[in-house]
Amino acid sequence: MTAAPPENESAPTSPPPYNVLLCIADPRMRQLLAFSFRRSQLHVVETSTAQEVLAQSKQMNSYAAVCVCDLPPQGMDGVAFLRAMQKASVYHPVVMITEDVSPAELIRLEKADVYRVIKRDVGLEDLRMTVRNAMVFSHLQIRVEQMEQEHQGIIPDMIGSSAAIVKVRKLVNKALNRDITVLLEGESGTGKELVARAIHTQSNRKEHKFVAINCAAINPTLLDSQLFGHERGAFTGAINRQVGRFQEADGGTLFLDEVGDLSMELQAKLLRVIQTRVVAPLGGKETKVDVRLVSATNVDLQAAVRAGRFRQDLYYRLAGYPIPLPPLRSRGDDVITLARFFLQQFAKKENKKIQGIKPDVEKALLKHNWPGNVRELENMIFRAVVICEDKKLSMEDFPALLGEDLRESAPFPAPPAWAPPAQAVPVAAAPSFGTPEPPAGPQSLANLEAHAIRHAVEQARGNLSLASRTLGISRATLYRKVERYGLKM
Ligand SMILES: Nc1ncnc2c1ncn2[C@@H]1O[C@H](COP(=O)(O)OP(=O)(O)OP(=O)(O)O)[C@@H](O)[C@H]1O
Ligand SMILES: [Mg+2]
Repeated sequence: MTAAPPENESAPTSPPPYNVLLCIADPRMRQLLAFSFRRSQLHVVETSTAQEVLAQSKQMNSYAAVCVCDLPPQGMDGVAFLRAMQKASVYHPVVMITEDVSPAELIRLEKADVYRVIKRDVGLEDLRMTVRNAMVFSHLQIRVEQMEQEHQGIIPDMIGSSAAIVKVRKLVNKALNRDITVLLEGESGTGKELVARAIHTQSNRKEHKFVAINCAAINPTLLDSQLFGHERGAFTGAINRQVGRFQEADGGTLFLDEVGDLSMELQAKLLRVIQTRVVAPLGGKETKVDVRLVSATNVDLQAAVRAGRFRQDLYYRLAGYPIPLPPLRSRGDDVITLARFFLQQFAKKENKKIQGIKPDVEKALLKHNWPGNVRELENMIFRAVVICEDKKLSMEDFPALLGEDLRESAPFPAPPAWAPPAQAVPVAAAPSFGTPEPPAGPQSLANLEAHAIRHAVEQARGNLSLASRTLGISRATLYRKVERYGLKM
C-alpha cells in the first residue's frame, strides 16, 4: 500500500487496489454508481446481497475497501449488517444510502459504527467525496495495523500480514532476548532460515556470529568435525586444525538446519554439549561455549522420536520453544503481497519495467497449493519476470499455473490412474495465437499437455529453448514430447 487515492482521480497505485463493495438493489442506480466509481479508478465489486458483501469484505481484509449499500442492504437489517461487517473486516467503512432515516435509527446506526448515512437525493459528487474519504480512512487503518505488526515482532524481511504470520511474529518477538532454544518447524520453503537469522539479528547476541550448518547435507563423520572441531593430526587426514561451529558461534547463535537428520551418535554428542555447555574438539581441550541454539526441521520430530529415530531427551532440549511456520497455502492474501514484493525485487534486478500482475494470475496464485511454499513462489515470480515481455505478468508467464488452469477448465475429469496410457493425440486445429483454450472434445491429460506445448511453442514463435523454459521442462523433454504427440512445429 503506497498512497491514498489521489484527489485528481489519477489511477490509484496498484498494489493494492482500492475497492468499492457495491450493494444497491435498484439496477439503474447501481449502474450509475458503478460507472462513476470506476471512472474514479476504483475497483468496483458489484454484489446483490448483504451476505455477498460480507463474504467479499472478509476476503479483502488486507486491502482498502468501502462498502456502499442500501439501507437496509438486501437480506439483512442495517444494524445487524454493520455488526457483521465489523467481524468480516474492521477496516472497511460502510456508507449507507436511503430515502429517509429517523433520528432514532440514525443514532442506532452510528452506534453500530456506520461511516455515513446519505440521502438518496444527495448529489453524486457528494457521495464520491464521502467514499473517497472513507477509502483514505480504510487505507490508513490498514497501514497503521501493518506498522504495529512490524514493530510487534521485528522480522524485517518477513513479508505478510495474515493471522498466521502475525502469530509467528509474536512468538519470535517473545523469544528474542531469552536464551531459550528455539525449534522452527515447517514445510520446506516456509522461511525457517529467514526467521532463524531474524532471531539472531534482532537479539542482544547480534554483535556476535550467526553460524548455520545443515545437518542433512554433510556425512556424519564430517559433520562431527564441523560441529565440534578437531586438532591437527587428531585422525588420519586431519592435516589442519578445524574450529568447530559451536566455538565459531561463541557468544552468538548456532543454527542447526534439518536437525532431524543427525545420526544417533551425533545426537548423543550434541545432547552432552547442550547439557554441559562444553565442547571437546577431537584430540583437543574442552572449551566452554556460550551459544544460543536455533534448530529447524521440515519433518515431524515428535514422530521421529516415536519411531526411535530421534532421542526424546534431545528433542525436549531443542524444542524448548517451538515456533511452527505456517504453509503458504494457509496465509491467504499474503500470497499476493509476496508475489508483488518478489516482482518488484526481480524487475529491478532484471532491469525490466513490469508494473504489476494481471488479476487472473493473482486468482490462480491464490488457488495454487504451494507445496514448495515461499521458495516456490519466489522462483515462479523470478521465472515469470524473465519471460515477461509485457507491462504486467500474465498467465503465459506462469506455465505451472497455466497447466492447472487447463486441467480445471477441462470438461471431463482426468483419466483414472489405472487407465491405459493415453494415445498420442494429433491436435487437429491449432488454437489461435495467444488463446489458451484447450481443443474441443473430450480431454485427457495427454491432449491437454499437447495443447499446452503447442501454445507455448506458438507463444515463443517457434523458439523451442524459450518454450521449454516457459513450460519448465528441459529442451530434450520438449523435443520428445513434440515427437510423441506428433506436433508439427
Ligand atoms: N515471509 C517471507 N517474506 C519474504 N521472503 C520470504 C518469506 N518467507 C520465506 N521467504 C524467502 O523464501 C525463500 C525460502 O525461505 P527459507 O530458506 O528461509 O525457507 P526454509 O523453511 O528454510 O526452507 P527449507 O526447509 O527448504 O530449508 C528464501 O529466499 C526466503 O528469503
Ligand atoms: Mg532452510
